[in-house]
Amino acid sequence: MNVRDEMLAKLQQRKPGYSLEQAFYSDPDYYQVDLDTIWYRDWLFMGHDCELPKPGSYMTVQVGAYPVLIVRDAQKNVRAFHNACRHRGSRICSAEKGTAAKLVCPYHQWTYELDGRLLFARDMGADFKPTEFGLKPVHCETVGGYIFINLSEYAPDFAPVRAMVEPYFAPHTLSETKVAFEMTIVEKGNWKLTWENNRECYHCAGSHPELCRTFPEAPGVTGVDAMDEPEIAEHWQRCEAAGLPSKFQISPDGQFRAARMPLLRDAVSFTMSGKAASKRPLSPNVLTPQIGTMLLFHYPTTWNHILGDHASSFRVLPLGPNLTQVTTKWLVHKDAVEGVDYSIDELTKVWIATNDQDRRIIEENQFGINSPAYVPGPYSPVHEGGVLQFVDWYCNFMETRLKGASVPHLKVA
Ligand code: FES
Ligand SMILES: [Fe+2]
Repeated sequence: MNVRDEMLAKLQQRKPGYSLEQAFYSDPDYYQVDLDTIWYRDWLFMGHDCELPKPGSYMTVQVGAYPVLIVRDAQKNVRAFHNACRHRGSRICSAEKGTAAKLVCPYHQWTYELDGRLLFARDMGADFKPTEFGLKPVHCETVGGYIFINLSEYAPDFAPVRAMVEPYFAPHTLSETKVAFEMTIVEKGNWKLTWENNRECYHCAGSHPELCRTFPEAPGVTGVDAMDEPEIAEHWQRCEAAGLPSKFQISPDGQFRAARMPLLRDAVSFTMSGKAASKRPLSPNVLTPQIGTMLLFHYPTTWNHILGDHASSFRVLPLGPNLTQVTTKWLVHKDAVEGVDYSIDELTKVWIATNDQDRRIIEENQFGINSPAYVPGPYSPVHEGGVLQFVDWYCNFMETRLKGASVPHLKVA
């Protein structure tokens, strides 16, 4: 039996309500199937369009085996390309971020326009046709200030993501922000453990003293059953009356969700005091007090908190079966001034602490799962509905694609 059949059989025999079998969290072959089936085929959040402020601004990212280059072209469109030269394959841009008038390969200086066309290649002979050697494009979409890419040749329709997410993001004008601070950590755990940890607050009281000052542990806030709670319904009503889409929405397949959740008591931001971290509101259009946090997740790459004074995005990327990279970015209004409107320490303290606490939890989780004695255990139906929803999404998604003779063979565009 090959690994795909083995995985499919395990998914079909899975005990509902239980964590996955060990191999899903640790086996290198299973990890490769995760890459081939999810990461190389689905829409992935990469960063914010405010990070590419002008033509020639670029960022690079590594998704599994694929180096990718995301750049703003002369017409101000955001585009993505495979970051591999069409001459002999060298990576063209190696910096994480930068600005370039043209994309020049460092090896033999083949020179590409910001839209990927090959402009110049020295001494390639009379028959050489530059038009045949443009950079290979990667599907790229922006919505509400967020950049998504898709590595497959046949990308799933992005329209449903746009339709749900755009109205929630629009009032916050995230294109008019800047990254005040960003940090990347590496967790020694499988990417699914990062998500399982994120999707519940069953562990918050025991692990997150800083976060628990402002963020409710109520399972409805983190999970997927918020509709039943009157306090949350009241919050939605108040925010929607102020023109802020807030109600819980989830895609039919469970891959993405948006909802605006209240913070504790009179807190307005994720700070130690609960007070705003930035004196300058994130958007001049959103001045309603106590709007709580707009939560958005999109599997497998991002969860987000958008508040009145700042926003933070989290990007998950797999580095190996037991290694996951998490990048956090804190956005403030583009004209907010450090030291005047906000301090980096106040802005970042809660999530830097929380991320580190989660890293340790995830690493301990992976240690235990690696034991030959590990067997799947039951999720709490009260507190871990969100985890179950994630695992169900993963299993359904994998099952459908592993079965799918009709799914087009993965090719690079
Ligand atoms: S590999 Fe890029 S110019 Fe030769
Ligand atoms: Fe946590």
